[in-house]
Amino acid sequence: MANSAGRKKIALIGSGMIGGTLAHLAAKKEMGDIVLFDIAEGMPQGKALDLSQCGPVEGFDAKITGTNDYADIAGADVIIVTAGVPRKPGMSRDDLLGINLKVMKAVGEGIKNNAPDAFVICITNPLDAMVWALREFSGLPHNKVVGMAGVLDSARFATFLAWEFDVSVKDVNAFVLGGHGDTMVPVTSYTTINGIPVNDFAKIKGVDQSRIDEIVDRTRKGGGEIVGLLGNGSAYYAPATSAISMAEAYLGDQKRILPCASYVEGKYGLDGLYVGVPTVIGAGGTEDVIEIELSDEEKSNLKVSTDAVEELLEACKGLDSSLA
Ligand code: LMR
Repeated sequence: MANSAGRKKIALIGSGMIGGTLAHLAAKKEMGDIVLFDIAEGMPQGKALDLSQCGPVEGFDAKITGTNDYADIAGADVIIVTAGVPRKPGMSRDDLLGINLKVMKAVGEGIKNNAPDAFVICITNPLDAMVWALREFSGLPHNKVVGMAGVLDSARFATFLAWEFDVSVKDVNAFVLGGHGDTMVPVTSYTTINGIPVNDFAKIKGVDQSRIDEIVDRTRKGGGEIVGLLGNGSAYYAPATSAISMAEAYLGDQKRILPCASYVEGKYGLDGLYVGVPTVIGAGGTEDVIEIELSDEEKSNLKVSTDAVEELLEACKGLDSSLA
């Protein structure tokens, strides 16, 4: 719903490092007016005030407000959820399940009661399980709730490949499928350097296949690498940028094909699971899931990844009986 100035409304649930970065990016791009929500009193208000004061310097027009009241997200066109706890070094994303599931319950109810027409992008970990739970708690249609992961994972894969080959990241089209955990599936057969399959490109450049395997492994563990370096928190710039590209695809009806944790039913052998797949995002939300042909090895890697997600969903149902 546009505001009186004709601008869209973007609600950001969680005003930590990703929330603040999201607000800054959305304001700089003049995507709409921004409501920064958090349960911590003062924090979203303080960040909103600080960010508003970037406007005169950067020359953007966006009303940025902070709130602790879900009522203020009413009428949001897009909601990006980062609420919850990030992992610390030594933890896996799955270790956050119990604590972040409770957070998703409160957030889902807040969305259901105040902004049921929004397009909701979830970033909270463990991603695939949390986007599923958020959908369940909010009751929104499956095509209006999606997880941000594949854009980020593919961006990491592309970055490492561009470094390896010393080429522009703009020429790398990297492809990652599956859950947003260490079992994710970077798919080299669909990854290209300016249209040239990456394995062929490696041969042209004299790069050994073992280097590509190392890059695949680094991509899988890409989030943990940053957690280890930061020491007290997880990545925020690239996750925020990735989610913003999804929000732009929705708001602009761009029909972009982005790898996202979408609801997959009847494709990839799945029967109703949120997991990373190439997804068309336009004004209808997640409008289509593109099913690609996979080799037997890729299929079995994907199965390992989707089984891990299914296991987490079972754990969620055990923790909250309303999900069973
Ligand atoms: C990431 O991949 O950066 C996020 O999922 C955060 C994390 O804990 O790795």
